[in-house]
Amino acid sequence: MKEGGNSRFIFLGRSHCAALTVFPALGLRKDDLCNRGRRRFRWSCPIRKFMTRERVFSGIQPSGGVTLGNYLGAIRNWERLQHQNYDCIYCMVDLHAITVWQDPKLLADQTRQVTAALLASGIDPNISIVFHQSAVPEHAQLAWILNCVARLGWLNRMTQFKEKAGKDREKVSLGLYAYPALQAADVLIYHAHQVPVGEDQKQHVELMRDIGQKFNHDFGVDFFPLPNAMIFGGSTRVMSLRDGRKKMSKSDPSEMSRINMTDDADAIAQKIRKAKTDAATLPGPEVVGDDGKISTEIEEARPEAFNLLRIYSTLSDRSMASILAEFEGKGFGDFKPALADLAIEKLGGISAEMRRLESDPAEIDRVLAEGAIKARRITAPILEEIYRIVGFLKA
Ligand code: AMP
Ligand code: TRP
Repeated sequence: MKEGGNSRFIFLGRSHCAALTVFPALGLRKDDLCNRGRRRFRWSCPIRKFMTRERVFSGIQPSGGVTLGNYLGAIRNWERLQHQNYDCIYCMVDLHAITVWQDPKLLADQTRQVTAALLASGIDPNISIVFHQSAVPEHAQLAWILNCVARLGWLNRMTQFKEKAGKDREKVSLGLYAYPALQAADVLIYHAHQVPVGEDQKQHVELMRDIGQKFNHDFGVDFFPLPNAMIFGGSTRVMSLRDGRKKMSKSDPSEMSRINMTDDADAIAQKIRKAKTDAATLPGPEVVGDDGKISTEIEEARPEAFNLLRIYSTLSDRSMASILAEFEGKGFGDFKPALADLAIEKLGGISAEMRRLESDPAEIDRVLAEGAIKARRITAPILEEIYRIVGFLKA
């Protein structure tokens, strides 16, 4: 997309008008509008790259516990981004969660639990916007429009849908199929630029670029910036402890396949002790190439071993080469206890803090409610502008 196209300048004036009508209806303050106005002006500027902070958006499903995969692949990176030059928005995507059955009695608590995991990992609601998706209706409102932009052929290619639907495709919900269009709406409704995710979400971020680009093209506007997937090195894909070829997932029926962020020290130690490995000793640092990577052939020959090594490397913030130099020639009898100690040291504090936060659900609800108000200060004027572009009559 062309940056700083003229159309942005046209939108600037109109979005101010749109925001003026929308803001009192939402009970928002006038200075919100002023901040917002300034930001939009900066977006419109051809040199905005040098002038503005980029906006980061990411989401996590409250569809069960939070795993070590979520933490290393996503949450840990979200926490770090808050201290860099970004405005960060983090969302518990409950609308996405119900694309597969969720027990209504559990969903609210799961949403609180995932929020507690974010807060306990250092995500600060005074720095980042933290909220749940269903509290900000503009996500679903834009999703409908994007359902009409996205093409069936594009959605048919989504591997997550194929995996989740399995052989019984006719029986899954329509929502599961449309899931990536809602995900595109999540990001585009904020004009977000960066989407920090694990490797498994790369295809969905590419799809949101296609959807944003088609919207811009179909309506002849330069409206949506096209977001980038931010995939951090190390543990972009944490694998199951029982099968090194399968992603560690909250939906895996085996509890032993994953470390949950709520696991206590005994559970963490037991899961690592029982993790599947092989009989060989660990290789030396010579298997790491000059680019810091290990060749696919070497990794694929010992997927479980390299999964544990990657977890160690990411948790300790040390390079794979330095870890292999330390453990070269040793077996898992030596490596597993070291990994268990490290995991307990790094995760123990987070799970204790999660338990403390979860004992005060009213406080979590307060954080989420405040986050939703902040989120709507951004989404309401953008949706208003989208409705105008699409040609909807004003209500
Ligand atoms: P989900 O739990 O599917 O909503 O995922 C939330 C975030 O965690 C996304 O950014 C995922 O890419 C990331 N994630 C989930 N599982 C893993 C995993 N096993 N390894 C790395 N990242 C993961
Ligand atoms: N689909 C993502 C997952 O399963 C969660 C998600 C929903 C998301 N909306 C998002 C991630 C927007 C990044 C941006 O992990």
